[in-house]
Amino acid sequence: MSARPDPVVAARLVEPTPGKRSAGRIVVVSNRVAIARKGAVAGGLAVALLAALRARGGLWFGWSGMIKEYPGRRPRRFSSEGIDYATIDLSPLDYEVYYAGFANRTLWPLLHYRPDVVAFEQKFFDGYRRVNALFARRLQPLLRPDDIVWVHDYHLMGLGAELRQLGCNHPIGFFLHTPFPAVETFLALPRHREVVQSLFAYDLLGVQTENDQRALTDYVVHEAGGSAASDGKLRAFGETTRIGAFPISIDLQEVAELTASPPARREYTRTKNSLGGRAMIIGVDRLDYTKGLLERFLAFEHLLETHPECRNRVHLAQIAPPSRGDIPAYADMRAALDEAAGHINGRFSDVDWVPIRYMNKAYSRSSLMGILRASQIGLVTPFRDGMNLVAKEYVAAQDEDDPGVLILSRFAGAARELESALIINPYDIAEVTSALHRGLGMSLEERRERHGAMIEVLRRNDLKVWCERFLDALGTPRRQSRSA
Ligand code: G6P
Repeated sequence: MSARPDPVVAARLVEPTPGKRSAGRIVVVSNRVAIARKGAVAGGLAVALLAALRARGGLWFGWSGMIKEYPGRRPRRFSSEGIDYATIDLSPLDYEVYYAGFANRTLWPLLHYRPDVVAFEQKFFDGYRRVNALFARRLQPLLRPDDIVWVHDYHLMGLGAELRQLGCNHPIGFFLHTPFPAVETFLALPRHREVVQSLFAYDLLGVQTENDQRALTDYVVHEAGGSAASDGKLRAFGETTRIGAFPISIDLQEVAELTASPPARREYTRTKNSLGGRAMIIGVDRLDYTKGLLERFLAFEHLLETHPECRNRVHLAQIAPPSRGDIPAYADMRAALDEAAGHINGRFSDVDWVPIRYMNKAYSRSSLMGILRASQIGLVTPFRDGMNLVAKEYVAAQDEDDPGVLILSRFAGAARELESALIINPYDIAEVTSALHRGLGMSLEERRERHGAMIEVLRRNDLKVWCERFLDALGTPRRQSRSA
């Protein structure tokens, strides 16, 4: 075992404000909103927030996913499975400069250590600020006095400051689902100072891991000339906020129920029947250049090259629902993956076996659990990932008597907790190949031991714990005590 501090314990570094937590309604704000009844949801954020809100109720405010030439002024209101929703549409320009622009062509690659992919235009930043202000204007009239506002992810870093401008005195917390990169990388962001300064309008900043906490704290201390206390208090720009690591997790109970559900069982049987006794390696990721998909295909190709006995004995199934397809880097990588899958299949297929099953569609969560359970190996190889909930779902969906093996990138936040996975460096294709080979031949005893250790970690920090820890730490601080 390493000497790293337990991330669950680390989350406690930010002490709750004792007795101050009000029973107020939780208002969750995120760009992407998942509607409970819709079934297939892509992206860890939507899956986690849906489960969290289902458990405790509340209001979920965000983008409807629709682009309208003339977006209405009033949010669309509806309820589903105990969650109230309020959604707004975006204009084509706002979509282009805010969502496809600053959020996903500037911030996303930067936060994932890809300054080479970053595109920045002044109009992206202006649009980002405009849409953050629009979210604030549309949300503010819906707020009740004792609401607790919880803003999610990089699309809305400036929302807290916009809400404060409108006079909101509510406790407002922010949680970043992506990594926060090391200072030298973050400095590549034009207007980085304004972005970080706006974060100080929040009462609490939550990040996934201590690495992220350290990186943001370094920026505050070394770049912004601020200070950081050991309890997570940050001072800079004449303001005070607090930071803590809150590793997001899954709802174990929900995954257990989904895995046992008839659709999951059907999918399990359908998958097993299709394999004819062969093993299956599974990958489930949004089609994104941060996920290391091409290198994953190459590692599998290398396995077939170097271990001919695996030919016609193993499949790689990659589920990769596309998103952000109108952004050039995504279109390019999709073309590269199509080519690689075609090439590898052309090279190794036989009349009764096609090595890579490549599916560009989303599956319902219950189907997904059946497929994960039917797979001998869960292959999760991002170059950078805030957490990666698929890794946790793979573990939770296994049969504990005969579990599969998780192969996990050291650059996913989940690797900090799931230390009993086979941890690999996704840039090292030969290493991934040997982990695949090792996983395929792993004894039942070792698989059980590793799985048991990982389930234990998930039990101690499941989604409910994550939610409670963040909200307890947010508490209800008095606004007047925030300034430094
Ligand atoms: C990641 C981000 C989320 C985002 C999701 C799906 O998980 O952290 O904020 O919602 O990807 O991406 P999309 O652009 O389709 O919302």
